[in-house]
Amino acid sequence: MGQRPLILKAERLHKSYRMGATAVKVLKGVNLAVEQGQFVAVIGASGSGKSTLLHLLGGLDRPNEGTVCFDDRDLSRMRARELNRYRNEMVGFVFQFYHLLDELNVLENVFLPAMVSRGIVGWWGTRAAARRRAQELLEQLGLQDRAQHKPYQLSGGERQRVAIGRALMNEPRLLLADEPTGNLDSATGNDILAVLERLHQAGQTIVMVTHDERVARRAQRVITLTDGKVKI
Ligand SMILES: Nc1ncnc2c1ncn2[C@@H]1O[C@H](COP(=O)(O)OP(=O)(O)OP(=O)(O)O)[C@@H](O)[C@H]1O
Ligand SMILES: [Mg+2]
Repeated sequence: MGQRPLILKAERLHKSYRMGATAVKVLKGVNLAVEQGQFVAVIGASGSGKSTLLHLLGGLDRPNEGTVCFDDRDLSRMRARELNRYRNEMVGFVFQFYHLLDELNVLENVFLPAMVSRGIVGWWGTRAAARRRAQELLEQLGLQDRAQHKPYQLSGGERQRVAIGRALMNEPRLLLADEPTGNLDSATGNDILAVLERLHQAGQTIVMVTHDERVARRAQRVITLTDGKVKI
């Protein structure tokens, strides 16, 4: 590997899903190391286990075997509280279908992770600062005029930019994106990729999964998932 320290290291990851009497083996020994500041794309066919892998990396699910280490800390050895902190503060997630809350406006959707991580009491002390950060993020994403809108009043590309803002709210060390352009036309998808490239240039570590080769090529490094393993 290069000179930069590793931020994420997955070793011999196995994951299967039980379907009645049979187990479907999805990941069969995936190894993956990501350096700090890298923009990595994971490409693979539909059903190859890309989302499964991303969930394991983000601590949303556990492998049957193998380890995921973040900064040399094994996620499987973290206590519940620490794992929650990892998911909420170290990692930012962006999904294909945005997963915004329609009852909240755009600004509130963006600062929600700060509320979650600080709890009710802590939130009151830091509310003004969190709102300012959310507003700054919306400006960076070209959405300052949309702060009071509800997500359903926005286009797909705008919604995804809100989702990126939300993912960045707690200044995560790692951004995980699952088909972030999968629901968008190619021009709008390009805008989203430009946002990710800009973040990468500013030092953000990104792991993005996609089935689209053209999308993957925008990353700095491409990893192919096939037959449950990383193709060498
Ligand atoms: N919760 C689950 N229970 C049972 N099977 C599952 C579950 N989640 C995923 N699978 C199966 O695991 C395999 C990999 O799924 P996964 O969603 O990781 O693929 P993917 O590469 O993200 O595909 P896509 O490009 O379509 O999003 C699929 O065959 C899927 O049906
Ligand atoms: Mg998927």
